[in-house]
Amino acid sequence: MNRILLVERDQKYRDRALGVLGGLDCEIVSLRDADEAVRAMMEQVPALVITEGDEPDESDRRLLRLAREGSRPVPVLVLTGNGSTRGAIGYMDAGAYDYVAKPDDPSALLEIVRDILRLSGGVEWSTPLEEPVSSPDGATTIIGRSAEMIEIFKMIGRIAKSDAAVLIQGESGTGKELVARTIHENSRRAGKPFLAVNCAAIPETLLESELFGHEKGAFTGATYSRKGKFELSHGGTIFLDEIGDMSLPTQAKILRVLQEHTFERVGGEQTLTADTRIIAATNKSLVDCIDRSEFRVDLFYRLKVVSIFLPALRKRPGDVGLLVEHFIHKYRPSTKIGIRGITPRAQALLEAQSWTGNVRELENAIQTAVVLNRTGTLDVEDFPFLHQREGSGVAATVADVVTRLADEARKTAAVLLAHEDEPGSTGVYHQCVDVVERALVQGALEANAGNQVQASRALGISRNTLRSKLDAR
Ligand SMILES: Nc1ncnc2c1ncn2[C@@H]1O[C@H](COP(=O)(O)OP(=O)(O)OP(=O)(O)O)[C@@H](O)[C@H]1O
Ligand SMILES: [Mg+2]
Repeated sequence: MNRILLVERDQKYRDRALGVLGGLDCEIVSLRDADEAVRAMMEQVPALVITEGDEPDESDRRLLRLAREGSRPVPVLVLTGNGSTRGAIGYMDAGAYDYVAKPDDPSALLEIVRDILRLSGGVEWSTPLEEPVSSPDGATTIIGRSAEMIEIFKMIGRIAKSDAAVLIQGESGTGKELVARTIHENSRRAGKPFLAVNCAAIPETLLESELFGHEKGAFTGATYSRKGKFELSHGGTIFLDEIGDMSLPTQAKILRVLQEHTFERVGGEQTLTADTRIIAATNKSLVDCIDRSEFRVDLFYRLKVVSIFLPALRKRPGDVGLLVEHFIHKYRPSTKIGIRGITPRAQALLEAQSWTGNVRELENAIQTAVVLNRTGTLDVEDFPFLHQREGSGVAATVADVVTRLADEARKTAAVLLAHEDEPGSTGVYHQCVDVVERALVQGALEANAGNQVQASRALGISRNTLRSKLDAR
């Protein structure tokens, strides 16, 4: 008869879980801690181990090692009461089969266990791992407790130690670079360089030299030979940001590095070897780029082997509270008064935003609010630049309206700047200024029944200036 080991300290939960799992055709052995489970595993290899914990300790690691290296691999299901980045990465990295939030209702556990027993026969086992080179306790902390983010932490734990290329997709500000750094910090390459290259920010002609280096005299201005990022990050990781903007010839060279691990400096003849892991990111749809023949299909598939998709913040509003807390802690030291917390009203306001700029926009909002706050508690008044929900009881002041206009203008400018080279675009600056000017002039004239003297006074400009603006149209 198959045996399941159940490690659970909470006696009440354990009894209920035992009741539920009793419905399976298995012998359920209940244990108090991981050490007891190790002893039980040495007596008889179980079909499954269910254990609990928020972060793996030494005993958990021993248990997981035995589970994957014993006479036959045993799936270990970790139930967590308080999921965390480090916990998810740590357990998956140590070879856990899965890491899930402990269901309040043990009957939900039955479904999970059934699935594992059904699948674990044919499932591919994650590669046995050595002890982590660096603790996941590095400088970067990814915050999130939503199911989507827990999946991402698990993914990081599974893939960090391999050398596979990774493609990270997601809207701007969702944390793509942060995830790339976390993968690096949890990999065997942790002590080696992590170098980021923004492919959109560097002119095409310089990008190749930036990546692969160049020899003296390779092009006008190349007075010295220079190492590129691939050479400089030898043994480490290179982060190719905005890879959707990379030119086709450079893409071909990246493909070669991925396939053959070789490249040449620009203007150089010697073939060099790259020992660099490639992590790429984009906020564009590469499929669309492929449709427009701007991105190589073969490179896309090569990169996509490990693919991480970061969900927009508005898709995981449950993470907003945690992020707010995190950013308050982060920016608190820069203030004199010290922020004690945030009111539920303000918290609700933040959760209701659509955060088109994702975590980066939320971080900026908290930073501004923390720096400007004078009371020690963040409240809705500290976020005048955010859209207030109807009925939130906050009257819009002139300052509110102006800040909102500035916010809208910033967003509009970002969109227009991104499309600035499209046919029909007449220049972002004039386009924006024109729209605002027209709205002001028309609005003032309408409000003053077409009277130019009154309209110019209302606008705070001379009548002549108003005239010249009308004439220019
Ligand atoms: N889950 C998270 N927990 C904590 N901080 C986060 C998280 N996600 C993003 N951040 C923070 O938000 C900011 C933006 O993140 P990052 O630069 O990684 O985003 P990105 O996806 O690379 O954005 P872009 O596409 O604009 O380059 C950074 O300061 C980062 O530390
Ligand atoms: Mg980025």
